[in-house]
Amino acid sequence: MKSLIVGNGAREHAIAERMAEGSELYAFISKKNPGIAKICKEFEIGDLLDFDKIKKFADKVEPDYVFVGPEGPLAKGIVDALEYEVVGPNENLAKLESDKGFCKEFMKRHLGRGYPQFEVCTSYTEAKNAIDALDKVVVKPGGLTAGKGVKVMGQQLESKEDAKEYAREVLEKKIGGIEKVVIEEKINGEEFTLQAFTDGVRLAPMPLVQDHKHAYENDAGPMTGGMGSYSDSDHLLPFLNATDHKEALKIMEDTIDAIRKTGRYRGVLYGGFMLTKDGPKLLEYNVRFGDPEAMNVLSLLKTDFSDVCISILDGNLKNVEFEQKATVCKYLVPKGYPTHPEPLAEVFVDKKRIEEMGARLYYASVNERNGKVYTSTSRSFGIVGIAKTLDEAERITERAISTVNSDKLVHRSDIGGKELIEKRIKHMRELRDEF
Ligand code: GLY
Repeated sequence: MKSLIVGNGAREHAIAERMAEGSELYAFISKKNPGIAKICKEFEIGDLLDFDKIKKFADKVEPDYVFVGPEGPLAKGIVDALEYEVVGPNENLAKLESDKGFCKEFMKRHLGRGYPQFEVCTSYTEAKNAIDALDKVVVKPGGLTAGKGVKVMGQQLESKEDAKEYAREVLEKKIGGIEKVVIEEKINGEEFTLQAFTDGVRLAPMPLVQDHKHAYENDAGPMTGGMGSYSDSDHLLPFLNATDHKEALKIMEDTIDAIRKTGRYRGVLYGGFMLTKDGPKLLEYNVRFGDPEAMNVLSLLKTDFSDVCISILDGNLKNVEFEQKATVCKYLVPKGYPTHPEPLAEVFVDKKRIEEMGARLYYASVNERNGKVYTSTSRSFGIVGIAKTLDEAERITERAISTVNSDKLVHRSDIGGKELIEKRIKHMRELRDEF
């Protein structure tokens, strides 16, 4: 069997590794990710939105299936443009991620429950009124911003005036590419990610993951694409129980049921939830694997990935199995990331040594030239420790990170650590009056 991956971050490296186990892998990448380049039969470098070029490469390879990692090509309609079997939603269904207004209206029409109050606004007056009508708000650009466009009152926004100014800026500058801003009620709780494979009828859920979007320790600083994430050996999270999980999954099942009336969603559906005192609330959908969350779940995958992809395309998806282990993923990023990242630096990492320590290494935004690996201004490597307990997985990740010999890279040491996890548990207990 032949397969083609489109994309070249750490998420795609994790996907590519799994694809290469059960198929002959080809890759269309925008930068030479050394990890992907090493495991594929052949790669082509180009713009991930240049569908003509991708199609030409696919014509040469004739893959049995194509897997698209990032949201950009899905939002632009790669599934419709390539005349191959692509695991991912078409352009219209990709709007669940690329147009937050579309997603929110979908929730209102088809789910009717399980999400925070919101208004989708296309003018400043609408946004201003929506902000005035709510107590505390979150301001979200309507389009794609790689996780960096969302601003929250009490964090990046100090007051309602700040929220209004930011909403005006989003509309005027078309941040996210469309003139739309979502004003959402700020709700209190703990965020978590539920990802599921789906063939458009059935869902095969993956272990739950908690991502950490703030740049600095203790959830401080600006938003990033994600600094690291963890998952637990029971596939739940330390602050969340099986009933919460069931409720979140039901919301996603109802979503796929609603979509079935008019179309077919094939691929990975990512639910971004907030666990509140009243149970899980859906904040957003992504139409692909999460980054870094893909690294957690794919490190545990037992079922052959290519078989899963073919069953998604054939419409006969069955259960997908994962090891009962905990994972802790941490990103190494250039000093100063994300606001003032230090420029290119050569860096040496020993993948084999890291693997011998019980961890996995995924190359992110690095480039290989003449056999040397250079960082860029974005996230550089994802390192995932895997063990029976979270504690042990976290220690493995830290030990593996200590082998990366660079004073140009930093990471969040608190992710997956006892202290931060205890804080999450305490937060949920307080909210649920469980003391
Ligand atoms: N981890 C957040 C995302 O993938 O969008």
